Amino acid sequence: MSERLTSSNNDTAGDTGAGCRLSPWARGVSPSPTLAVDARAKALAAAGKDVCGFGAGEPDFDTPQFIKDAAAKALADGRTKYTPTPGILPLRKALADAYNALGFAIEPSQVVVSPGGKMSCYLAILATVGPGDEVLIPAPYWVSYPEMVKLAGATPKFLPTDDKGGFKITPAQLRAAVTPRTRLLILNSPSNPTGAVYSGAELRALVEAAAAAGLFILSDEIYEHLLYDDVAPTHPALLARDAAERVITVSGFAKTYAMTGWRVGTLVASKPVAAAVADLQSQTTSNVTTFAQYGALAVFERPDLARAALDAMLERFNKRRMRLYNALNNIAGVTCFRSQGAFYLFPNISSFGIPSAEFCARLLDEELVAAVPGSAFGAEGYLRLSYATSDAVLDKGVRRLEAFCNRLPRK
Ligand SMILES: Cc1ncc(COP(=O)(O)O)c(C=O)c1O
Repeated sequence: MSERLTSSNNDTAGDTGAGCRLSPWARGVSPSPTLAVDARAKALAAAGKDVCGFGAGEPDFDTPQFIKDAAAKALADGRTKYTPTPGILPLRKALADAYNALGFAIEPSQVVVSPGGKMSCYLAILATVGPGDEVLIPAPYWVSYPEMVKLAGATPKFLPTDDKGGFKITPAQLRAAVTPRTRLLILNSPSNPTGAVYSGAELRALVEAAAAAGLFILSDEIYEHLLYDDVAPTHPALLARDAAERVITVSGFAKTYAMTGWRVGTLVASKPVAAAVADLQSQTTSNVTTFAQYGALAVFERPDLARAALDAMLERFNKRRMRLYNALNNIAGVTCFRSQGAFYLFPNISSFGIPSAEFCARLLDEELVAAVPGSAFGAEGYLRLSYATSDAVLDKGVRRLEAFCNRLPRK
């Protein structure tokens, strides 16, 4: 018997049969709980159940027609071959121009277009941390950050926040968590799952604390255009000392233009970091689908149509946000933080005294309402509700949630 077979005889975790075994990375990674909730809700709906889905992480609108037309034209024109790994030059140039109009000072070579903002985040992490390094992640967090950090061999270190503190970390909290091994801070404003948005002053203080500790900052701004209550957008890359070297700005087209299935994410960084990200991409996914890049380019070629599409979506989202926010705060035992961005609310359900995973499992079984437990985001005692769903589903879902809560004993 080979050495490989005998050495694994006490441990069958990850065994795929025939003496073959999954890697430590595959054994260590957790599947996305948000995608799992969405898949379960869709499966129930496909089986004819009247499910109210609050699990979605994507706009329920279609991609604007002018973007689809641009991609269809690119396809018809034969744009079907590889492009440069970091993306077609017109798109990188348009992105650089858009960032420079905000006050950045970048060249197209500092822009990398990747298959989704998720990949942009992962490549940013792979480019900046490795085994033995620590990464600071404010909690509640987007479910993929800790897994990506672990896949890079580094260790996630969480900075807890709560609704009373507006789901925001403080500079003192950041400073206290830094060790000689800390390399990277991840910021996500507007936040998934809470919808919290840092003010410019709050971000500046955090960025200064991170700069003093010599950290890279991954600023995930995928929800940057989904803002309410007249909140102004803020970009850590414009606030940092040595910003150009320190901050990696990630965004994309998925949430802003209802293009989640297109897989077009963007990253802006210093030249060495952008080059490292492009090299990593060149050995993994190569470029984003060519005609999808031309579809994304249409956003810059027709800014009038892009703005109109975004404004129409924002108006709908904002109405739903307030409708859901008010309805949640009217349920006895539930209190809800007022989000100012993205399309999520993160109500506090701790008064019922049961774990959020149990709360959500029972809510789906008993009332056919799909929500994601706060525990999935590293914050017990909350739920994440996405209002990227129709008004009818929203109203019906809230009525069912209220009926469910009214049946539960309170602490
Ligand atoms: C906080 C955050 N970052 C990044 C992404 C990735 O977006 P995509 O890969 O669809 O561009 C998501 C998607 O859910 C997200 O919520």
